[in-house]
Amino acid sequence: MKCFLLIFLLISAFGELSGRSVHRAKKRQVDECEALNATPEECSAYWAGEKPPLLVVSLDGFRPDYLQRNVTVNGVEEPAALLLNRLSRCGVFSPTGMTPVFPSLTFPNHYSIVTGLYPESHGIVANSFYDPDLNASFSLSSPQQTNPTWWIGDPLWYNVKRQGKISATCFWPGSDQTDPVRAPNYWLQYDDTVTYSERMRLVFDWLILPVSQRPNFVTVYLDEPDHTGHGESPDSPLVADQVRIVDQELQALFDNMEQVGILGCVDVIVLADHGMAPSPPGEKFLIMNDYVPNILNDARIYDGVFSTIRPKLDTEEEHDRIAGGLQCQDDNMRVYNKWDFPRRHHYANTNRIPNILVDMTVSWRAYAKSEWILRGNHGWDNLNNEMQAMFVAHGPSFKKNLQVRPFHNIDLYNLMCAMMEVDPSPNNGTWGALHHMLVSPPADPSPEPLTPISKLPFPADEATYNEHLMRKTCSLLTGSNTQSIDSTLNLTESATNAALQMHTPWGTPQTKDTTQIKTVISTDYVTAFDVVSGLPSWTSFTINQPRLTTAQPQWRLDVRLEETHASICDRFPDGIDSTWSVVPLFPFDTPSNSADVAVDTNAIEISKPFETYWNEFHAMLNRSVETNGETNVIVGPVRDSPSPGLFFVVSTCRSNGVALADCPVDQLDMQSFIMPTNVRYSRDCIKFTAFFNAHLASLPDVEHLTGIRFFPALPYGDKADILSRTPLASTLLVNPDPSTL
Ligand SMILES: *[C@@H]1O[C@H](CO)[C@@H](O)[C@H](O)[C@H]1NC(C)=O
Ligand SMILES: *[C@@H]1O[C@H](CO)[C@@H](O)[C@H](O)[C@H]1NC(C)=O
Ligand SMILES: *[C@@H]1O[C@H](CO)[C@@H](O)[C@H](O)[C@H]1NC(C)=O
Ligand SMILES: *[C@@H]1O[C@H](CO)[C@@H](O)[C@H](O)[C@H]1NC(C)=O
Ligand SMILES: *[C@@H]1O[C@H](CO)[C@@H](O)[C@H](O)[C@H]1NC(C)=O
Ligand SMILES: [Zn+2]
Repeated sequence: MKCFLLIFLLISAFGELSGRSVHRAKKRQVDECEALNATPEECSAYWAGEKPPLLVVSLDGFRPDYLQRNVTVNGVEEPAALLLNRLSRCGVFSPTGMTPVFPSLTFPNHYSIVTGLYPESHGIVANSFYDPDLNASFSLSSPQQTNPTWWIGDPLWYNVKRQGKISATCFWPGSDQTDPVRAPNYWLQYDDTVTYSERMRLVFDWLILPVSQRPNFVTVYLDEPDHTGHGESPDSPLVADQVRIVDQELQALFDNMEQVGILGCVDVIVLADHGMAPSPPGEKFLIMNDYVPNILNDARIYDGVFSTIRPKLDTEEEHDRIAGGLQCQDDNMRVYNKWDFPRRHHYANTNRIPNILVDMTVSWRAYAKSEWILRGNHGWDNLNNEMQAMFVAHGPSFKKNLQVRPFHNIDLYNLMCAMMEVDPSPNNGTWGALHHMLVSPPADPSPEPLTPISKLPFPADEATYNEHLMRKTCSLLTGSNTQSIDSTLNLTESATNAALQMHTPWGTPQTKDTTQIKTVISTDYVTAFDVVSGLPSWTSFTINQPRLTTAQPQWRLDVRLEETHASICDRFPDGIDSTWSVVPLFPFDTPSNSADVAVDTNAIEISKPFETYWNEFHAMLNRSVETNGETNVIVGPVRDSPSPGLFFVVSTCRSNGVALADCPVDQLDMQSFIMPTNVRYSRDCIKFTAFFNAHLASLPDVEHLTGIRFFPALPYGDKADILSRTPLASTLLVNPDPSTL
């Protein structure tokens, strides 16, 4: 049946081709892009005062490089995707694709695109998973799929409907769940026997309804080239045949629109949910049962590309036994407790995600007991090049001929809301992140006003100085305060301003609380210190050249803190045991005077095993400064329980000789990290490069976790530019693509 269908489609697709080629050739003489456009005058009757309808076409598993695949027609090689390539040249196109959410699977990603939420927040954490609270399992094939309980958050079709507009879905995961309130205005139960042509025809019929019934938002879903990518591997020529088929189906829709004079009057986004990588049968897999006998009896396991393990016995010992049996068995398998799992995956905060997660190198799989064969697959780390998803957009609202860098698919939700003038529900995207794609984006909101952080000055006189020395001390502080050493912290006003300008070039990072956070300003770095908890909030410094690491400081009291202020001594009044190291947040030997490194406001405790990562990170930073020159670093603790850590935001300017503060935003190179400092499993076998790569973050991740707002002095649009970057935007310290490790 399926086979017959395929042949039918092929014949009808190629049958139409010759005629259309002539047609297209004629148009190309005009201009291949011109012919796709319409003027507002030509569309005004169709629009009837409304915004253009928005059509989102999902081509499952369409990798960006599939656009370069060729097919042979009548002995002549030509691009498989003629229309999509043309749209990519004429509209908005991301050559390296759009970054899916983790895990790079169909259901989680489709639902993230229409909600702007990470899977941990929208509930669809995989294609199949178990919910211990519901004591039920979700899977694509079970009738559970349509039970609204599983689907959390507001999908766009619901926002549209609720705000008096019309939405219509010709398939989209989550659109056929059975809650009538959250359902689109028009929708169908998923049925894979409805042909692609029938789907496109239905979409067309919707688009030409009278304006009072016409949907403002339409989706359509095609399950190729995913299906063939799985069965044949992404490298197979059969994938190109499917690319040709889906492209022809879209062409048929465009032809229909042209016939009725609405081509160029509809906004069209063609996207994929994820990419595809080879999973060679008989190779590159591990059997978990070899390491933990009877693992299937003792745990509920979803295995393969990305495995999750829920021990039946819910005790810490049992978790440690199973995870401990798997950890460090192979370089291509990394075992995590979910709270230590890289923060950029946002994959922890729901009971639907079990505690033990198994991350595999791309193309590698871990099976509980035996291999199941697919020649291609997806679900791996979403930063892998092969997991990226195709994105092309064209229409009256989109800019022409614009190439964009990779972006997070969760940012599409706000974009689509902006296009349709629909209010978004709370979501994980950044408002404005993708406004650069639009011809006339909504005006930027005004930036939040800057709140100055008051500074703790050097004691004004000797009496105050002596008073400050009465502050609580402890055995950690082995250095002593002398007036001559401490006087290096007594900066003139102009030296203070110079330090602020140098070390916080984009304004002092803003913290939520401004009453108990105070700045302490030294020649070589600036710290925002929480005088109630005794912890730094952030430390910011700019370095120009490689530096020696400072020797282990002889810590002493920072005399700028007042007698009542808390410090590290309040956290470790009885000294520190051997599981901890105390390290300087500003860690370099300073040309001015190393004395200002050893004050206790610059001290932070890290777990002993993390110290090697700490040192390696600074060696890496040091090497980067040697090549990139002036570099700003903001570092601080992540106080989040149950997985405390450290964040780093490292920035430099790609234009040589431009001061950081004057760096144009497109030249501003930034990489950020959130590192857990107390990893439970696999710590000893994860290589430095793999560790730093895994714990890359994007800036919103750091802001969300710490409550700090970075780059506060930048205009809204520039800040949105930085917030919208995926880790793939920079190779400043580490290459973000895990397959390059
Ligand atoms: C596809 O065909 C074009 C000619 O139409 C050729 O220039 C190109 O190199 C081919 N691409 C591949 C990947 O073979
Ligand atoms: C969960 O459901 C299964 C049947 O699907 C049942 O056997 C089991 O007792 C249930 N467990 C709990 C805790 O309710
Ligand atoms: C994602 O958005 C939801 C809804 O606003 C929120 O509850 C959740 O904390 C957000 N998650 C992150 C990582 O920002
Ligand atoms: C700090 O330096 C200023 C000169 O810049 C000086 O007048 C003042 O006495 C110094 N303060 C202390 C406590 O040494
Ligand atoms: C930084 O590099 C310099 C020279 O390349 C070297 O002497 C120094 O030890 C390095 N510092 C660190 C912290 O690795
Ligand atoms: Zn798939």
